Amino acid sequence: MRFANLAIAALTLAFALPAYAQQPTIIKFSHVVALDTPKGKAAEYFKKLAEERTKGRVKVEVYPNSQLFKDGEEMEALQLGSVHMLAPSLAKFGPLGVREFEVFDLPYIFDDYNELHKVTQGPVGAALFKKLESKGIVGLAYWDNGFKVMSANKSIRVPADYKGLKMRIQSSKVLGDEIKALGGIPQVMSFSEVYQSLQTGVVDGTENPPSNFYTQKMQEVQKYLALTDHGYLGYAVIANKKFWDGLPADIRTALEGAMKDATKFANDIAKKENDDALEAVRKTGKTQILTLTADEKAAMKKALIVVHKDNEGRVGKDTIAEVYRETGFKP
Ligand code: LMR
Repeated sequence: MRFANLAIAALTLAFALPAYAQQPTIIKFSHVVALDTPKGKAAEYFKKLAEERTKGRVKVEVYPNSQLFKDGEEMEALQLGSVHMLAPSLAKFGPLGVREFEVFDLPYIFDDYNELHKVTQGPVGAALFKKLESKGIVGLAYWDNGFKVMSANKSIRVPADYKGLKMRIQSSKVLGDEIKALGGIPQVMSFSEVYQSLQTGVVDGTENPPSNFYTQKMQEVQKYLALTDHGYLGYAVIANKKFWDGLPADIRTALEGAMKDATKFANDIAKKENDDALEAVRKTGKTQILTLTADEKAAMKKALIVVHKDNEGRVGKDTIAEVYRETGFKP
């Protein structure tokens, strides 16, 4: 009798507990790059911290390498709640209708990570996140990757070398204009399709930071890599707003703390990951690494800088001016 009463009491308690106290809350976090990249490592680190600090009340399932969703699918999946977190590159927010993010794609707008951080960690970064809210998305953090190189199967040192080359880009109109300014033909394509498209000649070349180049094994299908440093590629870590706001306050606070620390981790490792990846590409001996002379660099800059003015209408004159102010960039 006593036992039966206890059993009933236990059952009643179990039913009285809210769902999140019985089952861990699952957070699906999807991204498109390899595990062995700044973003791949930071996502795993966030998972570790989030699970430890919520003492098992949250389980983060990280899906790397476009396993769950690829570019062009993932934003909609996030809005629908099929996935809870993403970390798309800043060049992938245009199709969502938030074109101001393409300010990060303007050629040569950042000289180094310090200048970039003035924007991502300052008022411009915060204002950009605010714009996501009406799309049902909350911006959690900016994670660094790095400065891009160009690659192709022919030597590419000056703008004339790009003439007629089909270059894969991310879904950013600014990047499209960048390739056109060099005389190339931009082709928007999901990241997951780049290797095969380079291999089969659907495209001739591409741009990315070395960490993405190396971990996608592009050295197997690209004979030349030019150290152009012509632009930046990094990420916004974002979540479905309804999901995030609906989390119990103590859980959300713990996750925000985990995100803060994962962001520091991501931004601490990004440069070295890219330097190491470039060295690893060099060591394969498959891709010739081209260091541009000062004159060649100047010619690239001269050809590409027009992209800023041409995109004032798209990115917003004010956004561009604010970034110039933060970074001290002189057009
Ligand atoms: C790309 O599509 O080239 C990059 O955005 C991939 C990534 O997430 O770094």
